Amino acid sequence: MDVQHAVKREGRKVSLAGWVHRKRESGGIVFIILRDVSGLLQVAIKKDKVDQKSWDSAVASTVESSVKVGGAVRKDDRSPTGYELEAARFRNVHIAEPYPITEYQSTELLLDKRHLWLRSRKMINIMRVRSFVFRYAREFLDRKGFYEVTPPLITKSGGETGANMFSFDYFGDKAYLTESSQLYVEAMEFALGFTYSFAPSFRAENSRTVKHLAEYWHLEPEMPYYDNEKAMKLEERFVSSIANKLAKRHADILKELEVDAQQLLKIKPPFERIPYERAIAILNEKGASKKWGDDFGVEDEKLLTEDKEKPIFVHSWPKEIKPFYMPINAKDPRTVASADMLAPHGHGEIIGSGEREWRLDKLLERMHEVESARGVKFNMQNYEWWLDLRRYGSVPHAGFGMGMERLIKWLLNLDHIRDAIPFPRMSNRLYP
Ligand code: 4AD
Ligand code: MG
Repeated sequence: MDVQHAVKREGRKVSLAGWVHRKRESGGIVFIILRDVSGLLQVAIKKDKVDQKSWDSAVASTVESSVKVGGAVRKDDRSPTGYELEAARFRNVHIAEPYPITEYQSTELLLDKRHLWLRSRKMINIMRVRSFVFRYAREFLDRKGFYEVTPPLITKSGGETGANMFSFDYFGDKAYLTESSQLYVEAMEFALGFTYSFAPSFRAENSRTVKHLAEYWHLEPEMPYYDNEKAMKLEERFVSSIANKLAKRHADILKELEVDAQQLLKIKPPFERIPYERAIAILNEKGASKKWGDDFGVEDEKLLTEDKEKPIFVHSWPKEIKPFYMPINAKDPRTVASADMLAPHGHGEIIGSGEREWRLDKLLERMHEVESARGVKFNMQNYEWWLDLRRYGSVPHAGFGMGMERLIKWLLNLDHIRDAIPFPRMSNRLYP
């Protein structure tokens, strides 16, 4: 049984196992705030109501000791948790050493003690939401008939610029940690149809921003016979379904995290679609000085989304600032068939999506164009297998990549992306 169920069985005997969140003693009574995943409950151990062993255990227990307790729960307005369990029996499972985390601590200490800080109410609730978000994402794709596939994380073929990849020695050869599984999911898509991978991606980005991790969880679906417009329709339904389920099923957790569930219920298709060119004009109207070909920074994303309740799409990006696999738009050859989904209130890009060039000659043209425009050189040997997909029964297709921590950061309005993942990896953090 857990705390949440125990308080629903008012007046009856319950047994709980948990941890000591807080403890105080006053005149023959030890008050313990007991914690488990579901919540907090005040426990009162009275010297004249329990056996000697229970009393001695209660006196000996310390903050974060693991304990077991049995007794009856009743409503009590004097209790900080609204209920009180009067112990009939109390035991320590393990008595904790003096706990290194006290009430006011620096952010750095909390990151150093991350393995313990994960027991705080805030982190417990965020991690529960994270688990639900992962579950609802999979549920949506399962219902749509997607297969989940597992790509390799060690690779020689970069999917994006390649500049931000961690490299290492692989039995005398140079290998990379994947920055995106897209190329491999494309291969599996031509075998299985609707396909997605859900795996970590790695980015050796030295940027210390509140939305960049060096290791993040990346959900990457691929859809045969989809174009950019169909992909955007799927993405807005996908994100809405996750936000709505969270709001409908977990209002209690959201409330503890000070998130307005009503706001999340308003996330419904359609999301506004803004062509890149229009986005530039909006930014300039708001005082920025942007020109065609500029990418957007944190401030620009904030300006574009500060007054939005729902995410927006920015689409038809200049080909110069998007990856080599995106096809040129026939109607406007300055642009490629791609869209980014930006979260409201400056939480930034949560999805990158678009069509994939599926014709071999056009793809090679794009790769050569990228090489000369950006002064990079593809090692074509490493891409031969992927080019084969365009040699044997290629089909038009589109796909997208969603950063799960970016999504969670927005849904829960977190200040920093590091709190959306249990053990953040950033340029200045590798421990614990
Ligand atoms: O826009 P990106 O770089 O696109 C791709 O990797 C495509 N191959 C995805 C695809 O189409 N299959 O990354 C996709 C998403 C971003 O929109 C963002 O949400 C997240 O991944 N992301 C990061 N999240 C946390 N930390 C970082 N350093 C991130 N870089 C990208
Ligand atoms: Mg992107």
